[in-house]
Amino acid sequence: MGKLFAKIYDIMMQPLEQKGLTELRKNLIRNARGKVLEIGSGTGLNFPFYERADKVIAIEPQPLMMNRSLIRANDALVPIDVVLADAEEIPFQDNTFDTVVGTLVLCTIPNPLKTLEEIRRVCKPHGTILFLEHVRLDRPILGRIQDWLTPIWKHVCDGCHLNRKTVELINKVGFKLVRKKQYCKNLLLEIELLNSK
Ligand SMILES: C[S@@+](CC[C@H](N)C(=O)[O-])C[C@H]1O[C@@H](n2cnc3c(N)ncnc32)[C@H](O)[C@@H]1O
Repeated sequence: MGKLFAKIYDIMMQPLEQKGLTELRKNLIRNARGKVLEIGSGTGLNFPFYERADKVIAIEPQPLMMNRSLIRANDALVPIDVVLADAEEIPFQDNTFDTVVGTLVLCTIPNPLKTLEEIRRVCKPHGTILFLEHVRLDRPILGRIQDWLTPIWKHVCDGCHLNRKTVELINKVGFKLVRKKQYCKNLLLEIELLNSK
């Protein structure tokens, strides 16, 4: 399934990108500064929007996704290296990055808590963490519908969980919340965190 998903990902995302997702990506990514790590960078849809970063290292475990992102990395305004790697075991030393970015990725990674702990480890103290994530709605009926749909959705969308309680997971790790903005009636969240370790 991974290969097919990688092949159709950009086409599948196009309507959402046109409806405002691209604008949300731009707004988030322009806050990434210094040495940046992007986790699960997919086909590199965020790459054109890095302006203030000195350097970006993007990790992505799916080889076809990674290959597809290389053109966007070459065309980017800042240097971007793409590395085949898993965000559950980030292959960098402690306190390496000024900013860590993740978009639409904590929904898919099998162990998001382990990933958040890894982000905490590799991000410098007082570094910034930027997420754009869809989450489980805190509303009885709609949340249940997300729970029911998740098994089939996961199958079709390469592991994506519609019902991840991402904010609860973030709170467990102990980052300091700087900013949280909600879109699409709370379905999509833009989150800025401080690595207060
Ligand atoms: C829905 S796509 C999002 C891609 C991209 N971040 C974006 O905003 O378009 C989810 C991505 O998470 C990646 N992914 C899945 N498991 C992962 C893991 N363990 N570590 C890092 N990335 C992972 C997938 O390969 C895929 O590229």
